[in-house]
Amino acid sequence: MRKKIVAGNWKMNKTRSEAKKLLAEIDSYIQSHPPKCEVLVGIPFVYLENAKANHKNFGIYSEDISEHKSGAYTGEISAEMLTSIEADGAIIGHSERRQYHHETDEQIGAKVKIALDNGLNPIFCNGEVLEERKAGKHFDVVKKQTETALFGLTADEIKKVVIAYEPVWAIGTGETATPEQAQEIHAFIRSLIAEKYGKDLADSLSILYGGSVKPSNAKEIFSKPDVDGGLIGGAALNIADFSALIDAYAEI
Ligand code: 13P
Repeated sequence: MRKKIVAGNWKMNKTRSEAKKLLAEIDSYIQSHPPKCEVLVGIPFVYLENAKANHKNFGIYSEDISEHKSGAYTGEISAEMLTSIEADGAIIGHSERRQYHHETDEQIGAKVKIALDNGLNPIFCNGEVLEERKAGKHFDVVKKQTETALFGLTADEIKKVVIAYEPVWAIGTGETATPEQAQEIHAFIRSLIAEKYGKDLADSLSILYGGSVKPSNAKEIFSKPDVDGGLIGGAALNIADFSALIDAYAEI
């Protein structure tokens, strides 16, 4: 059985005291309601060290990582730095990084590789924009993103990658891909991996869906055979919604 994962992506939200409060709420919820899935949160860099020191019951991830090892890259955070504060992993190639910071598939591939080289678990994001979906190009887009970023990895490396399919038109818009649309493209992504690395490896890989996941739609989406959980933005910012998403797995 592959891992089922409920992952929060806080993006650029929460002050220090707000972050501390929500992390404590997640921790105590998990302790009182042992989850049927893995739980992790991607949080702003500045909170990572404290979060990791104080919370061992769920994963603590960064929201990005530099593709460079070290050196004159002002403002960047390296994989080595993240490992040294014991972060568990990094969200990589989020569409907001692609859109606002012009990250390319090649750069994103380098980020995944350096994360793996430093023992961090990468969550690799892919997904098409609305125009691409409307033009029926979503399969081609996701194929190119995935192949360019991941297919230089060895089988042992790619095994450690979690993929998050996030259609850009569904992020923060309230518009969710239907469970059928999610299933269709998740199965397609799995078939790409199977062609390159074999069916057993593809079957062992967790593929998350992201884009307006909320308590009211999570169970239906997570129930699809090729959907292994969610990468969640807005609904990960308060304990009522986030705990309900974790609980969606208790009901499946
Ligand atoms: P929303 O859940 O707010 O749509 O964000 C999804 C996302 O981008 C998670 O990485």
